[in-house]
Amino acid sequence: MLEIIWNRSPAKLSLTPEAVHVWRASLLQLPERYERLVQTLSADEQLRAERFRFEQVKRRFKTGRGLLRLLLSRYLEIAPAQIQFEYGVQGKPALAEKLNKIDLRFNLAHSEDFISLAVSCGREIGLDLELIRPLKEAEKIAEQFFSTSEYTKLCSLTDKEKVLGFFNCWTRKEAYIKAQGSGLAYPLNQFEVSLAPGEPPALLNVAGAPQETSRWSWQELIPAEGYLAALIVEGHNWNLACWDFFD
Ligand SMILES: CC(C)(COP(=O)(O)OP(=O)(O)OC[C@H]1O[C@@H](n2cnc3c(N)ncnc32)[C@H](O)[C@@H]1OP(=O)(O)O)[C@@H](O)C(=O)NCCC(=O)NCCS
Repeated sequence: MLEIIWNRSPAKLSLTPEAVHVWRASLLQLPERYERLVQTLSADEQLRAERFRFEQVKRRFKTGRGLLRLLLSRYLEIAPAQIQFEYGVQGKPALAEKLNKIDLRFNLAHSEDFISLAVSCGREIGLDLELIRPLKEAEKIAEQFFSTSEYTKLCSLTDKEKVLGFFNCWTRKEAYIKAQGSGLAYPLNQFEVSLAPGEPPALLNVAGAPQETSRWSWQELIPAEGYLAALIVEGHNWNLACWDFFD
């Protein structure tokens, strides 16, 4: 796997059609910034946050939205509170068209204490992030949600390989459906990704859409020890830059 270097955030941000930027932040870095971030949320985001039952989930959502607004405001050179979103049929947020003169696209992912954000220009993008942990019910989940050949491949791995194999598959499948914007409305067993540890990320097969396998390209990322992220980007020949939100 390509060694990724996470750099300090540059003072000025600009995006070209060949660039893909990935940002990472730990929620543990953020307590003193939290109140300032939350103040930038819109009324509907505040309302949505109040509907989460668990404090940790509420805080993660608010922090994610605050960071997203802060970051987009830097690309667009407007105030974070001025950012407006539009939503796809299955809830994928996008920048409101009237603000989006550069066709900026983004996708956000959170898991436990980490948030990561991918940004591109004129290319669809999907990102998923998971904390790697042994799951007792992994094979059951795989049997229910993975394709038959993914499930068979997972079962053929050694017990040690299975944990990473499972999360390779999970993050790659999620990244693909997030790039599509379809969420779980897209049947997860209708496409197949690579999963064996050491195997590069790939879309191997999409039922009814063979052109999909060459339409996308991938990058595997490890934003922090114990976490795994899959990034999928429309097209090829793009350059990746990875940055820390805060030094
Ligand atoms: C909503 C979904 C897109 C991602 O959910 P998730 O893994 O819980 O959450 P993530 O942290 O990866 O991503 C959440 C962010 O994705 C974005 N998002 C929301 N709906 C989206 C959609 N339809 N498409 C793409 N991105 C979407 C939002 O920015 C959201 O952040 P928000 O909470 O601030 O609005 C959807 O795929 C889902 O519900 N997955 C459930 C997980 C699952 O069962 N996976 C099985 C894998 S085998």
